[in-house]
Amino acid sequence: METIEPNAASFKEAERTGWSEKAPVYDDFAGRITAGAVGPLLDAIGLQPDVAFLDICCGTGALAAEAARRGADVTAIDFAAPMVAEAERRFPGIAFAHGDAEALDFPDGSFDAAACGFGVLHLADPDRALMEAHRVLRSGGRYAFTVWKGPPDHDFFRLVGEAIAAHGATVELPPAPPMFRFADPDEARRAMEAAGFADVTVRELPLVWAIDGPRDVLAYVEKCTMRIAMVLDRQTEDARARIHAAIFDGATAFRRGDGYEVAWPAILAAGRKR
Ligand SMILES: C[S@@+](CC[C@H](N)C(=O)[O-])C[C@H]1O[C@@H](n2cnc3c(N)ncnc32)[C@H](O)[C@@H]1O
Repeated sequence: METIEPNAASFKEAERTGWSEKAPVYDDFAGRITAGAVGPLLDAIGLQPDVAFLDICCGTGALAAEAARRGADVTAIDFAAPMVAEAERRFPGIAFAHGDAEALDFPDGSFDAAACGFGVLHLADPDRALMEAHRVLRSGGRYAFTVWKGPPDHDFFRLVGEAIAAHGATVELPPAPPMFRFADPDEARRAMEAAGFADVTVRELPLVWAIDGPRDVLAYVEKCTMRIAMVLDRQTEDARARIHAAIFDGATAFRRGDGYEVAWPAILAAGRKR
């Protein structure tokens, strides 16, 4: 199989560029699925009214907005300026700001609670981000994050991975941590404990993406993926067409009654600062 060299300067810059481009369509795709983790994330940190809460990697702001609705004093950060702008447009009145999860611009002990919805798997240095979340919490403060489970349990990543393996060239992406590192509950727990968290719990969220048909799966691939988009961009037109056809055919298996359901499970890890 042919190997194609990376074309992005760094993983972090590729992610920032990618999320900046995807901000306007995020809520039509990933946002519809990540919304299912908002309640469980806030429940996992036991969010109470009037606490100072930090949403890390806030995207278009759904987690921050629900935390504010529950009465928390909310700050939310993201490193993609168009995401911050979209969040401000959707939820005026919440303190959204530009910020880096790996170098939080807040003093030690600033927050009572913090959470990161589906950001950790996109970070160049997730261990540093966990330590940063721990640093900005007061003693006793709680933190939780979610990540996607990988194949074989995750329908979308399994189908797309198999289609690329069968029809595409191998692409060398900029060096980055494994995308599904924290999908392993033991690894999620180990990383949380290494960052200093106690009482760590890890559980699965059986999220499902309800869609109209296989075309929605292809649209997601095209409009809302990051590493997959980088891999597909580097394929020949012919290979890309064969990958798309395999994804479309495979997605017909997601039919359930009158609609389609894509199993999109997640892992939720939570802990407390001593
Ligand atoms: C999959 S989206 C999740 C958005 C939102 N939390 C949700 O659950 O829908 C990942 C987000 O992480 C942000 N992100 C990635 N790396 C980051 C970093 N180093 N610092 C801050 N935000 C980052 C991206 O810009 C993007 O908005």
